[in-house]
Amino acid sequence: MRIGVLTGGGDAPGLNAAIRAVTRKALAEGMEVLGFRNGWLGVLEKDFTPLDMHSVSGILYRGGTILGTSRTNPYSRQGGPEEIHENLRDLEVEALVPIGGEDTLGVARRLSQEGINLVGVPKTIDNDLYGTDYSIGFDTAVGVVMDSLDKLHPTAEAHHRVMLVEVMGRDAGWVATLGGLAGGADAVLVPEEPFSLEKLYARLRKRHEELGKLFSIVVVAEGARPRDGGQAVVGGTQVDEFGHIRLGGIAHTLASQIEAATGYETRVVVLGYLQRGGTPSAFDRVLATRLGVAAVELIKAGQFGVMVGLKGNRILPISLEESLSQTHSLDRDLYHLADLFY
Ligand code: F6P
Repeated sequence: MRIGVLTGGGDAPGLNAAIRAVTRKALAEGMEVLGFRNGWLGVLEKDFTPLDMHSVSGILYRGGTILGTSRTNPYSRQGGPEEIHENLRDLEVEALVPIGGEDTLGVARRLSQEGINLVGVPKTIDNDLYGTDYSIGFDTAVGVVMDSLDKLHPTAEAHHRVMLVEVMGRDAGWVATLGGLAGGADAVLVPEEPFSLEKLYARLRKRHEELGKLFSIVVVAEGARPRDGGQAVVGGTQVDEFGHIRLGGIAHTLASQIEAATGYETRVVVLGYLQRGGTPSAFDRVLATRLGVAAVELIKAGQFGVMVGLKGNRILPISLEESLSQTHSLDRDLYHLADLFY
């Protein structure tokens, strides 16, 4: 049996661990593996490389993806889906393992409805995929935020400054919430709860003027926006093939407002792509390995049209239909747990 694997959407640490697991398990089952390059683009263009033990040796700890990725949407291209069906037939690929987020797996769902055999693996630092408690890359991104906050505390304290740290997550506040909790942020702003500027000012004043804490660290999710109906700040006008506009810039806007309202010297750090880089955490390596192996087991069992996910400590399948009909929304109790420490 010949199967294909691809990595699509934003890269994340752990992708190579997943590619390695899919390949090693498939080879152990006597399957052949084709690695399609650059997400769905590789399937559209028949751009692939055979994967064997040698191909995946020594990649477990590497960030990024040996196959490359892209934000290619075959359904936004004339004849794209037909091309995919034809190429998979020509190459005699009997099943696919797409590793990606809502966009990549959204394409997978449609192809599955059209008869392509596939099992999805959840990957996104945003952690917004329903049907899995953790997506590949999320834990590592949280670690980057935590390490950054640890580094920023001393300099903020030395200069008695407010430090705004803008983090990724698109429309989800998971990275901001867990990164803020782990790093001891004094306030965390997330897309799910539009913030009140007055409340933020009051919190900063309380620290600086009542508690004698002359510095503050505020984590701001890139998709956060003010309560007065303001929209998230975007970093340009271009949209990708899935219609996503690039977010970014909220922290700079907020810095000027805080300085004007409170007089506190404020600085900004935008963590950006550091959250997608580096070596995967132990948690992400193990998660990616378990998910990759489980995906091949489901292919062997002939169970398609699903995504494998972590529920508690078990790896379970969920239909792509059910997974993609909703999002893994931020746990509000977890978000408000941080309130205790402000
Ligand atoms: O979806 C993952 C993510 O890192 C988001 O958090 C972020 O907004 C987006 O990708 C950035 O997209 P790109 O890598 O295409 O700039």
